[in-house]
Amino acid sequence: MEKTFYIETFGCQMNAHDSEKVVGTMVQQGYTQVDTVEEAGYVFYNTCSIRDKAEQKVFNRLQHFKRDAGKGKVFAVIGCVAQQEGEKIFERAPHVSLVAGSASYSKLPQMLVQLEAGNKRVTGLSFDAGEAFDTPFTRRDNPHRAYITIIEGCDKACSYCVVPFTRGPERSRTSASVLDEAKRLADSGYTEIQLLGQNVNSYRDPSATGWDFATLLDSVGGVPGIRRVRFTTSHPRDFVRPIIDVIEANENLCNHVHLPVQSGSTRVLTAMRRLYTRDQYMERIAWMKNARRPIAITSDIIVGFPGETEKDFEETLELLEEIKYDSIFSFKYSQRPNTYALELGDHIPEEEKSRRLAIVQERQRAIQLRQNFGLVGDVEEVNVEAQYKLLGQWMGRTSRNRTLTFSHEGDEELIGKYVKVRVTRAGPASLAGESIPGSVN
Ligand code: SAH
Ligand code: SF4
Ligand code: F3S
Repeated sequence: MEKTFYIETFGCQMNAHDSEKVVGTMVQQGYTQVDTVEEAGYVFYNTCSIRDKAEQKVFNRLQHFKRDAGKGKVFAVIGCVAQQEGEKIFERAPHVSLVAGSASYSKLPQMLVQLEAGNKRVTGLSFDAGEAFDTPFTRRDNPHRAYITIIEGCDKACSYCVVPFTRGPERSRTSASVLDEAKRLADSGYTEIQLLGQNVNSYRDPSATGWDFATLLDSVGGVPGIRRVRFTTSHPRDFVRPIIDVIEANENLCNHVHLPVQSGSTRVLTAMRRLYTRDQYMERIAWMKNARRPIAITSDIIVGFPGETEKDFEETLELLEEIKYDSIFSFKYSQRPNTYALELGDHIPEEEKSRRLAIVQERQRAIQLRQNFGLVGDVEEVNVEAQYKLLGQWMGRTSRNRTLTFSHEGDEELIGKYVKVRVTRAGPASLAGESIPGSVN
């Protein structure tokens, strides 16, 4: 067997970070990462199951490479589809030899031994595998911005959502372990940290200190060398006032909150089992709008949930106008296995879902265009992420999580640096500007 591996990652940041752990483990076990399936002895698909389309991607990939299985390649399906479908994957795609969910990646070395021994049906599907939140050899993709998992799983039961089934019950990591990792990252040159969890707000330190999320957030923001801290995702029900208080008081905490609303109709929110009303959600929005530092707000919207009437949908559109989000992700409802909403059926036709989605996206585009024009003339500090050499431009991200393309006089390396940029142009999804001379640090 070739000691090489290829990995493709689907889904959210949790999966992206899990892949960094898997890559680190594989490298530590003596395997080399390659860029194509053709070159690889092991092929990993780290999968997402949030909507049907996401789930189908992995089966399309497996179908495509079916013939390669006999040629000494091992196919591994890991992540959320693996956890959800379990051993059924072996039936559907007989050339797969490993099926493992995210809670069992700490067992990967043992699973590799079984695969190397020729075992064709290796699984890691238990939620109590003694998981490690992090491995000492995690291979991070980005040298300046790092993910840290603070909580795994989800104890909510939103009626449309597979995550509680694919990631299991909530498990928080100790604050000592989180801070230790943040310090190690700062020592090795990282300046930005993104705290990860399906619902970071319900973080509760399992050690005696019993810290809540706001306390942890503030402490990570106080680690010397760390200049920016982000976090995702926030559930509105558990989003409490002290989180805003610490963001207001600590400039290192980015002024951006992703607070997915899903729908503007309390009736639909109830059917979704989101545990808040529209009014309760708006109260949280008011905290942010009235904060001393203006806080960018982003959201997720689902259209076409079973029972969503034209009036419910109008309420979502009104909510968009009222809040004026900085950006949103919007999706057509997709029926998922095991979920409570299955019993509600899926009666809104696909064309109607598409129509509603297009209207949401068009409204939001117009809102963003108006908002972005208002930013022309402002000066924002960006953390530089990329260089577009052909265009002579750089790209960086503001504390409010906006990307800004800018020109810069001088030929120093800017990636990873912080630069002040004056906004000179705006589009619905983009901002462009010029760096302020002498502002690089
Ligand atoms: N933990 C996060 C959500 C993660 S999933 C939270 O609670 O906000 C990301 C987004 O996918 C959700 O916010 C929702 O908008 C969308 N989503 C989840 N399940 C879906 C489904 N069955 N159909 C369509 N969109 C869905
Ligand atoms: Fe899914 Fe709801 Fe948990 Fe988010 S809070 S992961 S939408 S069940
Ligand atoms: Fe997808 Fe799993 Fe994330 S279902 S969105 S990869 S938690």
